[in-house]
Amino acid sequence: MEGLCFRFLLLFVFLLCSHTRHQVNATEPVLELTKGFEAKPDSSIDSFQPLLTDPSGNFSFGFLRLNGSRLTLAVTHPNLTDPLWVFDPTRTASWSHKTKLFFNGSLVVSDPSSRVEWSTHTNGDRLVLRNDSNLQVVSTSSSSIEWESFDFPANTLVENQNFTSTMALVSSDGLYWMRLGRDFIGLYAKVSDDSHSQQFYWKHSALQAKAKIRDGSGPIHARINPNGYLGMYQTGTVPVDVEAFNSFQRPVNGLMILRLESDGNLRGYLWDGSRWALNYEAIRETCDLPNPCGPYSLCTPGSGCSCIDNSTVIGECSRGGSRAADFCGGKTEKFKTVRRGGVEVPFKELMDHKTTSSLGECEEMCVEDCKCFGSVYNNGSGFCYLVNYPIRTMLGVADPSKMGYFKVREGVGKKRSRVGLTVGMSLLAVIALALTVAMVYVAFRIWSREKHALEGEDGGLSPGPYKNLGSDSFSSVEMSRR
Ligand SMILES: *[C@@H]1O[C@H](CO)[C@@H](O)[C@H](O)[C@H]1NC(C)=O
Ligand SMILES: *[C@@H]1O[C@H](CO)[C@@H](O)[C@H](O)[C@H]1NC(C)=O
Ligand SMILES: *[C@@H]1O[C@H](CO)[C@@H](O)[C@H](O)[C@H]1NC(C)=O
Ligand SMILES: *[C@@H]1O[C@H](CO)[C@@H](O)[C@H](O)[C@H]1NC(C)=O
Ligand SMILES: *[C@@H]1O[C@H](CO)[C@@H](O)[C@H](O)[C@H]1NC(C)=O
Ligand SMILES: *[C@@H]1O[C@H](CO)[C@@H](O)[C@H](O)[C@H]1NC(C)=O
Ligand SMILES: *[C@@H]1O[C@H](CO)[C@@H](O)[C@H](O)[C@H]1NC(C)=O
Ligand SMILES: *[C@@H]1O[C@H](CO)[C@@H](O)[C@H](O)[C@H]1NC(C)=O
Repeated sequence: MEGLCFRFLLLFVFLLCSHTRHQVNATEPVLELTKGFEAKPDSSIDSFQPLLTDPSGNFSFGFLRLNGSRLTLAVTHPNLTDPLWVFDPTRTASWSHKTKLFFNGSLVVSDPSSRVEWSTHTNGDRLVLRNDSNLQVVSTSSSSIEWESFDFPANTLVENQNFTSTMALVSSDGLYWMRLGRDFIGLYAKVSDDSHSQQFYWKHSALQAKAKIRDGSGPIHARINPNGYLGMYQTGTVPVDVEAFNSFQRPVNGLMILRLESDGNLRGYLWDGSRWALNYEAIRETCDLPNPCGPYSLCTPGSGCSCIDNSTVIGECSRGGSRAADFCGGKTEKFKTVRRGGVEVPFKELMDHKTTSSLGECEEMCVEDCKCFGSVYNNGSGFCYLVNYPIRTMLGVADPSKMGYFKVREGVGKKRSRVGLTVGMSLLAVIALALTVAMVYVAFRIWSREKHALEGEDGGLSPGPYKNLGSDSFSSVEMSRR
């Protein structure tokens, strides 16, 4: 009898142990996904839900939660706030049970509620994450790569990743992008909703010191070289240009990345084993950034931001708010004219200009064209620059003979603040109502609990939302502090 008891106890302990071990296995990193894999976002996770890890454990692929309720597929590094890769910077799915990710030879994410249907359109066998953060669909039979995330960069380029002339890096806010020209790297800003207008704000031309760019030998491509530079190449491994990082020709043991950030700057980072150290910065002066002071402002090297129109305050230089002015539309918008000296167009070497004999002639060209938002005239050279998009940050200079003429939308400011006040008051009313409802509800709960207690019932008040403190949600809390 005792022996039987003991054997039962052993069996029990064994079952317990094997169950525990099984759980440990479940939290071990997943190194590949095969056909039949399916996953949905977990509603208890508030930042990142890992699905796949690279062999070194440095990178993860999974669901990234954005803005509370949106979802993107992302490759992340625990010490980087922004992901290294996302499936499509312009689209997100919803963080709900309707969203599904599966691997059936293609990696597919579908969310009917957001009309998102994204697929790698492949017929592979496995999905793996390489130790350089490259996500790949591979087929075992021919051991070939059918699809890789390195071909579809978001805002980041990783060491050894090839950036070709058909690709673009796009900042996470969608306002800036990097592209390759025939013999240069260019940075461009979105200046209006019209996709044809863009501001060209930074250009790095190939020096062609070691190799020349030859017509007919195909487009150039760029790649971060482990020796600490961004190389431009046409054919072979001899670069046509070397843009040096801080770690140039210093032997370093760490991964380098290049990222187009939300201020329009291109920055390089080096993982030094404990942090991502700044290793390169394309634009060093604040006033050389594309829009450092916002619309209708002036950036003056050494003294910072001010407004073009002295009667407005910094931060609200454009009275019209975020909506772009339109002087061509059906109901023509009223504008007043602001003139001031000591102004230059930024990046004028990348901008077209006309030559006129006088300031008046230059301004007249802008007055007559409803698509023109302002002009800048240089009395010394006779160069006339016409700005054909809503005025952004202009450059402040000491020379008062460089004259700016600007069309500034009139009278919208006051109206806006009244609208703001109305909205604010309605909001207050809604909050007051919500508070009242909450108080009545709490009072009712207390009353009913006391009533139940008196009746000798438990009431079943289990603290539902708090019981899910498993290791998964704990690690997700850790991730959110990245
Ligand atoms: C997040 O919310 C902000 C403000 O509500 C919005 O401007 C932004 O586009 C949202 N981002 C995404 C990815 O949905
Ligand atoms: C995988 O699923 C997608 C979406 O349902 C489908 O269009 C595709 O044909 C499937 N691919 C394979 C190889 O079965
Ligand atoms: C990454 O993987 C490759 C093989 O795929 C290996 O040669 C290399 O040493 C690995 N790098 C690191 C940092 O683990
Ligand atoms: C980038 O291109 C070079 C040659 O053009 C090639 O040798 C290398 O494997 C490519 N790198 C990746 C990560 O695809
Ligand atoms: C990757 O992991 C190794 C150790 O596994 C570490 O030495 C290295 O710094 C990590 N690299 C990155 C980019 O996190
Ligand atoms: C990097 O992230 C990991 C995981 O979140 C964390 O344990 C580690 O302390 C972080 N390292 C640094 C230097 O912040
Ligand atoms: C703004 O103020 C500056 C200096 O106080 C003056 O030089 C400039 O003419 C003023 N501009 C306008 C548009 O009033
Ligand atoms: C512009 O140049 C003309 C002649 O070149 C000169 O007479 C005039 O004073 C200049 N105007 C300004 C504002 O400097």
